[in-house]
Amino acid sequence: MAADGGGGRQHGLFALSYVSRAVEPDMESLLRVARAVAVDAGVRNGLASITGALCVGDGCFAQVLEGPGAAVLDTFDRILADPRHQEVRLLEFIPIACRRFAGWSMAFSGELAPGILAGAAVEHRLLERLGRGSVAHKAQVIAAAMEVNLRPFP
Ligand SMILES: Cc1cc2nc3c(=O)[nH]c(=O)nc-3n(C[C@H](O)[C@H](O)[C@H](O)COP(=O)(O)O)c2cc1C
Repeated sequence: MAADGGGGRQHGLFALSYVSRAVEPDMESLLRVARAVAVDAGVRNGLASITGALCVGDGCFAQVLEGPGAAVLDTFDRILADPRHQEVRLLEFIPIACRRFAGWSMAFSGELAPGILAGAAVEHRLLERLGRGSVAHKAQVIAAAMEVNLRPFP
């Protein structure tokens, strides 16, 4: 879903990424939720100057949200409370100079390679104990994989 987002430098921009486990983990259900989210969230995100992308795999969702810090955190608060997923693990909330997903209020990145999201979800606690750097690295790998895998919602 396209949206204004601007590709240039903006002040006060943040990126947040998380991994979560779907309550109904089969691929058909993951895609059904992704489609439902795309319709509603695409409009809300556009109004809040949020851009980002969602992907599925291994019974998990991963999402990157970019925009003004307060708007991103408000959106994440609602996402945390959503009963369609659980074990929502924040990977990263960092200031950014430019948006990765400029022009997309909610892009879809399909299914990531098997193992990536399950690995991120399971390893999260361990990585956190080892040091934030490892979690941040995982977040960057997921965001980069999402960026090169953009496609229309199914
Ligand atoms: C995996 C997943 C991703 C979501 N992404 C967004 C999003 O980017 N923006 C958004 O407004 N809602 C998103 N939602 C939906 C929110 O969780 C919530 O249902 C919606 O914002 C409506 O919130 P409300 O019922 O409190 O008004 C997502 C839900 C799920 C399960």
